[in-house]
Amino acid sequence: MIKGVQLIELPRINDIRGNLSFFENNNQISFDIKRTYWIYDVPGGEARGGHAFKKSHELIVALSGSFNVVLSDGINEVTYNLNRSYNGLYIPNLIWRSLDNFSTNSLALIVSNIEYSSDDYIRNFKDFKTLTIEK
Ligand code: TYD
Repeated sequence: MIKGVQLIELPRINDIRGNLSFFENNNQISFDIKRTYWIYDVPGGEARGGHAFKKSHELIVALSGSFNVVLSDGINEVTYNLNRSYNGLYIPNLIWRSLDNFSTNSLALIVSNIEYSSDDYIRNFKDFKTLTIEK
């Protein structure tokens, strides 16, 4: 377990015409969405992430295919395999994350509570550990 991280089951409207899921500001997720981005066309064996955010909270959904999200609080490491488009992984700030093991044609949707800022990144794991110990 990593404090604050939550695997959220999103609403599912099952229909013979095809299923529908959704999330809303301050409803299924606890923050206001300021930014949406997505990761796709990841070549086999590649990894994304490898950093933490100072302020950014995120929700990650595997809209298509599957991938692993490896999380660390500086001490504990937990791996989530996301493979359902009705699950969202909520990651608060100050959690180290890497995404790997992407299946062919997988699509990761990510929403954040802040606009993109390179200043929000902690890219050095040692610096991250120091910060989390101070927390
Ligand atoms: P980065 O967050 O480092 O990718 P990942 O952690 O998924 O491996 O971002 C890669 C590049 O994309 C970097 O140059 C910044 C840019 N970028 C934006 O311009 N806006 C965004 O919202 C994000 C997430 C990245």
